[in-house]
Amino acid sequence: MNKLKLNSFIASSALLLGSLSALPVHAEDEAQLIKQGEYLSRLGDCMACHSLPGKPDYAGGLAITSNIGTIFSTNITPDKQHGIGNYSEQQFADAVRKGILPDGSRLYPAMPYPDYARISDADIHALYVYFMKGVQPSAEQPPETDLSFPFSQRWGMRFWNWAFASDKPFRPIGGASAEVNRGAYIVESLGHCGSCHTPRGLGMNEKALDSGDEQFLAGGSLNHWAVPSLRGLPHWSQQEIVDYLQTGRNDKAAVGGEMTSVIEHSSSHMTDADLNAIAAYLKFLGGNPPLQAYNVQAQQATEAKLTAAKNLSEGERLYLDNCGACHFVTGKGAPGVFPELDQATIVNASDPTGLIHTILAGAQQPSVAKAPSKLAMPGFAGRLSDDEVAQLATFIRQGWSNSAPAVSKDQVAEVRKTLK
Ligand code: HEC
Ligand code: HEC
Ligand code: HEC
Repeated sequence: MNKLKLNSFIASSALLLGSLSALPVHAEDEAQLIKQGEYLSRLGDCMACHSLPGKPDYAGGLAITSNIGTIFSTNITPDKQHGIGNYSEQQFADAVRKGILPDGSRLYPAMPYPDYARISDADIHALYVYFMKGVQPSAEQPPETDLSFPFSQRWGMRFWNWAFASDKPFRPIGGASAEVNRGAYIVESLGHCGSCHTPRGLGMNEKALDSGDEQFLAGGSLNHWAVPSLRGLPHWSQQEIVDYLQTGRNDKAAVGGEMTSVIEHSSSHMTDADLNAIAAYLKFLGGNPPLQAYNVQAQQATEAKLTAAKNLSEGERLYLDNCGACHFVTGKGAPGVFPELDQATIVNASDPTGLIHTILAGAQQPSVAKAPSKLAMPGFAGRLSDDEVAQLATFIRQGWSNSAPAVSKDQVAEVRKTLK
């Protein structure tokens, strides 16, 4: 982008827009706003995309691969030349909520502005004050995004926005409690949970952007990794949802895949009140067929067969040799330490990529304030062949009360190719 042109544009529009950002603020109000804005940036997880390890916070440069090419996040520190130091509050609001830059060009939706469209004016104000006054300016210059034609044409995004984005503000759910509505607000706007948890349409658009639509949060897929539905979460209590978002684990499951970063940078920093609001809202949504309930007979049959260790199938034998020490013959693991495999979302997902990836590469929980230990599961890529992983995964998906389709060795080979 031509910064010179951009600056003169800002100079000429500053008079028009100045009234928004030039409100006089008292020092203590400002300190309060900065703190609030910092918290809101955690809710919005701005850090995850706009920061790189070892570089100054918010200096940008993260490469985001999309189906149209690699898009680099930008420097959003208040540096006047390399960052957003010249943005007025109105320009900041338009970039974050509408994906419109000060020169009128459009951002790619790798920046989740279709969700951020619902951020309230008050929250935008606090975010603006934080990014202008609470963040250190950095002269870091991230690489330019250079997509091939036709996606290099940013004006094309105008039509995308027209077709798919929405500029409707957040609308509270009538009749729901204040807590549920606080959760709805976070999830629909700053939390941008739908950017991964809502299925995508033909234009890579999220098929729904708010609670009024049954497709909202109905589950999707990210680089083939199944992203579960969040509607109702019938297999978890409200407290189990809170624990998972706060620490990356609860008494049944442990986080994996892209959700690990969401927990590390965003939800583990949320207040108890906000975590409870999110959980209450997800419970309130409902509308999701519950997973098949635990099947006690099937559970006991698998447990008895593994315990007797006679006439085992290849999958059962591989499980006893490699997994049983931690996840046990019951498939129940140990609460808070080894996750449960019976009825686990990742095990029963229709796309088994996440399960295969976990077996091959292992898994590590994020280290967060409330649960600092980093528990790890070793990877088995070096020890098990594609065929063995397929037989093992098939057993797990059909053992105990699980019932999901078999896994083929070709599916394993595909996932193995993606490992670093
Ligand atoms: C999922 C990744 C992601 C998240 C989360 C994210 N951004 Fe972005 N953001 C991007 C990308 C990528 C771009 C550049 C897009 C482009 O070049 O079209 C961008 C661009 C921007 C811009 C325009 C900057 C410029 O170049 O002038 C602003 C302002 C911005 N983001 C602010 C924020 C804020 C504030 C948050 C948190 C509330 C946030 N972003 C969260 C990915 C993200
Ligand atoms: C960058 C993509 C991404 C974003 C953004 C995201 N999630 Fe997730 N989420 C995932 C993936 C992937 C999984 C599956 C994790 C696994 O397989 O272990 C997941 C799993 C979950 C689960 C576990 C569900 C289950 O049945 O196992 C919950 C709860 C959850 N996410 C809540 C949220 C909330 C609330 C937000 C918004 C604050 C959010 N997620 C934002 C990608 C994302
Ligand atoms: C040394 C103990 C250990 C062994 C052996 C082990 N695991 Fe794990 N497993 C863990 C831990 C700890 C986690 C949670 C780590 C995380 O997700 O951060 C985990 C996570 C998982 C998950 C994700 C569960 C969820 O809720 O998302 C699956 C699936 C899994 N293991 C399957 C297996 C299979 C199959 C084997 C055998 C090939 C195996 N594990 C062997 C300790 C172990």
